[in-house]
Amino acid sequence: MEKILILDFGGQYSRLTARKVREQNIYAEIKPYTKVMVDEIVKEGYKGIILTGGSFSVFDKDAPHYDPALFKTGIPILGIGYGCQLIAYTAGGKVTYSDGGSEYGKVEVISDGSTLLDGFPAVSVSWMSHRNYIKEAPIGFNVTAYTEFCPVAAIEDEERNIYGVQFHPEVSHTEYGELVLHNFLYNICGCSGDWTMDSFVERKIEEYRDMLGDKKVLCALSGGVDSSVAAMLLHKAVGDNLICVFVDNGLLRKGEADYVERLFRDTFNFNLIRVDAKDRFLNKLKGITQPDDKRKAISEEFVSVFEEEAKKIGKLNYLVQGTIITDVIERGSGDITGFKGSENSGITSVIDFDAMLEPLRDLFKDEVRRMGQALGIPKDLVWRQPFPGPGLAIRCIGEITAEKLDILREVDAIFREEIEKTGYDRYTSQYFAVLTDTKSIGVLDDVRTVGMTVVLRAVNSDDFVTADWSRIPYEVLEKASERITSEVSGITRVVYDITPKPPATVEWE
Ligand code: XMP
Repeated sequence: MEKILILDFGGQYSRLTARKVREQNIYAEIKPYTKVMVDEIVKEGYKGIILTGGSFSVFDKDAPHYDPALFKTGIPILGIGYGCQLIAYTAGGKVTYSDGGSEYGKVEVISDGSTLLDGFPAVSVSWMSHRNYIKEAPIGFNVTAYTEFCPVAAIEDEERNIYGVQFHPEVSHTEYGELVLHNFLYNICGCSGDWTMDSFVERKIEEYRDMLGDKKVLCALSGGVDSSVAAMLLHKAVGDNLICVFVDNGLLRKGEADYVERLFRDTFNFNLIRVDAKDRFLNKLKGITQPDDKRKAISEEFVSVFEEEAKKIGKLNYLVQGTIITDVIERGSGDITGFKGSENSGITSVIDFDAMLEPLRDLFKDEVRRMGQALGIPKDLVWRQPFPGPGLAIRCIGEITAEKLDILREVDAIFREEIEKTGYDRYTSQYFAVLTDTKSIGVLDDVRTVGMTVVLRAVNSDDFVTADWSRIPYEVLEKASERITSEVSGITRVVYDITPKPPATVEWE
């Protein structure tokens, strides 16, 4: 398999770069510059190397540098941002502190084309993020682009196959970024584009099969996308030696626990243990009303249930975690249970295992979904909307009771059904119901009654860091409201949440 090394100097876009390379059907792996030596790089047979950006100045005392022998290997190299300055500095060019301010954001780049910039127009917009700049290119390098502020925005030494750009081709704001990467990967490195998700999955399965042999692997299967995909991959590699523990905490949506069990045990023949822990979780949540306390209680209970199950299984060699790249970026660690932050950190300390497996660590969510499809996981699971680890507990305001959860499950199921029936699920990113603790007056058979208030929430979002409320057609809301008040007893009022994030959050708690 052709592969590209992303030699990471701590740049904010390193992972994005890997993804952009994979989008061009070439496999890319990221290695921190401290973790890989030149001889290993040569041995691995990389088709090309990309030196990433970074936040240092090349002449800082602690700035990351790399063995100059790398530049003599003949492997094509592309430096981006800091990577470009590092090439220039190492090869004897002049890199200086900027005195005229930094370039940040969209900047016009002027170029008259080159091998790397083949097809690049004379003037185009690229994304810049740098304080220092290359004042003079090293001997042997041509300057192939510049900006108003930056005399050297791209360099190349065709003979030695070394290229650099001060701008960021991996960022979507760079108009011709894909072209630059394409030129590097296909024209300079000579890649043919042999990477597809199917071939990657096949290879991963083989790798794990060879590596794990008959070792025992444990996975906490939540039924969410990440843990399901990680588990499926491992199941294909080691079969029954993968033991999945699915904790039914009673906080899942209507029919969800049975669906997960049916799918993984009956359809895919997983070695699956379903733990009915509904009562334990309810007990643990008794009297708790504050969101953070709920999260903490659920997380603690999960760890203790999981620990008990793991002890019953006996000696385990590996623990699989569905960590994906955003978990690594945002939290600096993985996520096994679907809980945010450090809430699940307890799990690794209570399970006795030799090593952790994180097969999705380098992948973005949409890549994980595509991997899930390649593994044969049904579309409705692979493309499902996010569901918080603490489940309905944080959508049921105030103290949790079995009755309130049942009501919420019914309301939520009706709302989701109506959205899906009308095909509106294609236009909204996440939709669900919240059971408030606000009582409201209603009229039933001409008699005034006191009932509960539910909220319907639907949002559109790319990354859930910000979100807007979905403009669901009134008819869909109307139908959902009618059904909820007539089919679920005790509900006197249905309201629709029209707050974006910020200032609100997606969830109510
Ligand atoms: P907020 O409410 O923070 O939600 O705007 C953003 C996204 O994160 C989900 N969410 C959670 N996911 N554990 C999770 O795994 C949690 O505790 C949690 N809280 C919120 C939420 O559903 C939305 O998609």
